Amino acid sequence: MIITIVGGGSTFTAGIVKSIALRREELEVDEIRLFDLDKERQDKVAVVVDWILHEDLKCDIKLTVTTDVETAYTDASFIFAQMRVGKYAMREQDEKIPLRHGCVGQETCGTGGMAYGMRTIFPMMKVIDDAEKYAKKDYWILNYSNPAAIVSEACRVLRPKARIINICDMPIAIIDVVAAAMEIKDKENIVYDYFGLNHFGWFTSIEYKGEDLMPRLRAYIKEHEILMPAAYLKDKAALGVSSGTEGNRHTKGSWYYVWKGVYEIMENFPEYLPNTYLNYYLQQKEFVEHSNPEHTRANEVMETREKNLFDGVDAYLATGKIDEKVFYAGSHGDWIADLAIALKNDTKARFLVITENRGAIPNMPYDAMVELPAYIGKNGPEVIARDPIPLFQQGLMMQQVNSEKLLVEGCIEGSYEKVLQAFTLNKTVPSMNVAKEILDEMIEANKGYWPELK
Ligand code: NAD
Ligand code: G6P
Ligand code: MN
Repeated sequence: MIITIVGGGSTFTAGIVKSIALRREELEVDEIRLFDLDKERQDKVAVVVDWILHEDLKCDIKLTVTTDVETAYTDASFIFAQMRVGKYAMREQDEKIPLRHGCVGQETCGTGGMAYGMRTIFPMMKVIDDAEKYAKKDYWILNYSNPAAIVSEACRVLRPKARIINICDMPIAIIDVVAAAMEIKDKENIVYDYFGLNHFGWFTSIEYKGEDLMPRLRAYIKEHEILMPAAYLKDKAALGVSSGTEGNRHTKGSWYYVWKGVYEIMENFPEYLPNTYLNYYLQQKEFVEHSNPEHTRANEVMETREKNLFDGVDAYLATGKIDEKVFYAGSHGDWIADLAIALKNDTKARFLVITENRGAIPNMPYDAMVELPAYIGKNGPEVIARDPIPLFQQGLMMQQVNSEKLLVEGCIEGSYEKVLQAFTLNKTVPSMNVAKEILDEMIEANKGYWPELK
């Protein structure tokens, strides 16, 4: 059984490999292959991966590291995709260009996310085509590559038969934080319901061993004025930004603001627990105000996660010692590995997935890509249908889903007008003219990555 990781040079690769290797019995995995376009980067990550497999866990899983498509995909059963087209250099542009025009600058939300989407759609189709050509006929691609909302819509339109499941770790990361705040150690006993789009959804219920956690959670958030475990806040830095003490990257650096924002959103709309990403749409003005257009999340990641990983590799090569913290990925790796187990062993375990609606949310379009719970078995997700959603959430989701659809259409057709409509329709953009200024600057910055727009 072969698992291929596309984007082998990712900062998350080593953490994911550890999660896979810890589940080697259930996955019956014989070989892990790393595939990337950037040989130098991937070769460094492979040093840690090799250490995890053969020194740390002492398993007999074979490791293959390649930049050759045929070697990567031949007979693979699972393809875990996590590529970042344009790497951090382009993420920086996605974040900084909108901020220069007074708009949200974010990896996956708003116009930054749309720029990233325009770079990723066609490389993702290539992943699917390569899997179709070389992998096992019953392959599954489990895709983390962002922006997952736009990527999944492009898959729906361009490769509707592909065996791909698009996923996100944010809801599970929120549950991790909820568990820590509620001092729950056995988080696997937390059961939740959720609806939305990717990076645009709400928890409607959270239960722990039969207890409705929502009242306790609402009280906690109100009292602390943030959704963050008290222990994580204890070394709060001067600017009010948590540096996070518990190894959870989602609570570090500028991530602080979205956990604070959960409190702010719930002061007005307390019924559901919002996904942290909703802040970029509901508090777009305030998020621009506290952003530093010269130093965004891309810079934070390059200065911390990426640097620590590659410094860690150098230190290992020099001393033979490795600090696990440099590659720890936590539930990010567990989530994708557990999903593969559910598919392989037909467990019907419940996961959130990004999927075509097909009536599951009755008052959303049939062909909208939504994020919902599903039971996962060997034939893929069986999505759990729900009652109609309230008008407020439905209205927000319709605006966002149409913006994403227009972007994908515009990208495929090479239509400047449709892409401009997508930008104009997005809730993070205040005017058509601002949309156009951002788009024109992004066209320049993305030369060689975007299809030509006419
Ligand atoms: P990274 O830049 O460290 O790694 C990405 C790797 O992808 C790089 O080594 C790069 O060379 C490679 N790559 C780029 N284009 C490629 C292509 N066409 N084919 C093969 N490889 C290619 O990035 P990271 O911060 O580790 O994140 C990796 C990806 O995972 C990003 O897309 C990120 O947005 C995504 N991510 C998604 C979730 C989620 O919830 N869905 C969570 C975390 C990260
Ligand atoms: C969450 C989201 C991902 C996103 C990531 C960014 O995990 O679910 O979709 O890519 O955060 O994290 P970073 O540490 O790179 O800013
Ligand atoms: Mn995500």
